[in-house]
Amino acid sequence: MLKKSVKTILNGLSVAVFVIDAEKIIRFSNDAAKTRFGADLKDQNLSIIITDQKCINAANQVLNDEVATVSLEITFQDVVPTTFRFIITRLDAERVGGDARAIISLEDISHIREAEQMRIDFVANVSHELRSPLTSLTGFIETLQGPAKNDKVAQTRFLSLMASEAQRMSRLIGDLLSLSKLQARERVAPGEAIDITAILRRVSASLEPLTMREETTISLIMAPYLPDVTGDADELTQVFQNLIENAIKYSHRNSIVEVVAERDPSHENQLRISVRDHGEGLDPIHIPRLTERFYRVDKGRSRNMGGTGLGLAIVKHILIRHRAYLHIDSKPGLGSTFSVFLPIAGI
Ligand SMILES: Nc1ncnc2c1ncn2[C@@H]1O[C@H](COP(=O)(O)OP(=O)(O)OP(=O)(O)O)[C@@H](O)[C@H]1O
Ligand SMILES: [Mg+2]
Repeated sequence: MLKKSVKTILNGLSVAVFVIDAEKIIRFSNDAAKTRFGADLKDQNLSIIITDQKCINAANQVLNDEVATVSLEITFQDVVPTTFRFIITRLDAERVGGDARAIISLEDISHIREAEQMRIDFVANVSHELRSPLTSLTGFIETLQGPAKNDKVAQTRFLSLMASEAQRMSRLIGDLLSLSKLQARERVAPGEAIDITAILRRVSASLEPLTMREETTISLIMAPYLPDVTGDADELTQVFQNLIENAIKYSHRNSIVEVVAERDPSHENQLRISVRDHGEGLDPIHIPRLTERFYRVDKGRSRNMGGTGLGLAIVKHILIRHRAYLHIDSKPGLGSTFSVFLPIAGI
C-alpha cells in the first residue's frame, strides 16, 4: 500500500500516525502509534481506538470528500486523562495509490494544556492572595476615615493590624520575585564551598523569637568534621529557615525540633540534613503536592501564621539549582521529617 520509504519517514515521527481506507479500516500505523495504542491495529476499524463521535464524524466528512481536513482536540479518559490533537486529512487516491484514503495524526498535547492550566491557576492564586490583605487594608482605611476618626485606641489597634497586612503583602511579593529569579537561574549551579553547620547555627539563632513564642526547642545534632557542600549560602539559609520554621509552626507547643547534619549513609558524596518535628504530621496524599506554589494543608491556619504557601516551592527550586533534593517522610499525628541531600564540595 504505502511505499517503504514513506513508511520509514512516518516511523521517524514522534506523533502517532494512522492511514485508513474508505471503510475506516487502519491500513498502516507508524511506530509511535503502535507504542501508544497497540501493535496489532492493522486491518481493524478506526473505532477500536477512537470512539469519540466528533472524530468519527470528521472521518466520515473527509472520506465523503466534504472537507479536505479536520482538526479536533479530544481527551482519552485513561487512568490519567490524556488530551490529543486529532488531525485527519484526505489523501489523493491517484497520487498515493492503493486504498489509502486519509491520514490521521494524534499528538499528545496534555503537557501544553497542563502548563496552561497551571498558569491560569497561578494568576488566580496570586490575585486571590493579594486581594485578601488589600481588602482588609481598604476596610481599615475606611473605618479610620469614618467611624474611628477620633478614636485613638481603635486607631492604634487598626494601624498595627494594617502594618501586619502590608507586611504579608510585601512578603508575598518578595517570595514571588525570589521564585521567578530562581527559575531564571535554575540551569546555573552555584559553586561556593559552604560550611552547612554554620548556616544551621545561624538559622537556628535567627528563629529564637519564634521558638520562644511557640515554646519550642531546636536541637542541633551535627556529626564532627563534616565536609563543605557546594552551594549558595543565602539560598541554603532560605531552605533551612523555611524547613525549621515549618517544623516549629506545625508542631505543638513545648516540643522539640531536631536538626541532624551527617554524611548520607547511602551516598558518600552527599550530606543529609534532616529537620524532624513531633507535630501533627501529614496525610500521605498531601506529600507529593507540598512543594506546589500556594499548596497548604490548612489554608486558614497557614495564613493566620503569616504564611504565603510559597516556602516549600522556593525550597524545591533552590534545591533543583543545587542539584540536590528533598525527601519528605511523615505520619499523621507523629510528626514529619524533611531531609535535604546536598552534594559535598570538591567531589
Ligand atoms: N513540618 C510540617 N508539618 C506539617 N505540615 C507541614 C510541615 N511543613 C509544611 N507543612 C504543610 O505544607 C504547607 C506548605 O508549606 P510552605 O512552607 O510551602 O508554606 P507555609 O509554611 O504555609 O507558608 P510560608 O512558608 O510562606 O510561611 C503548609 O501550609 C503546611 O500545611
Ligand atoms: Mg513555610
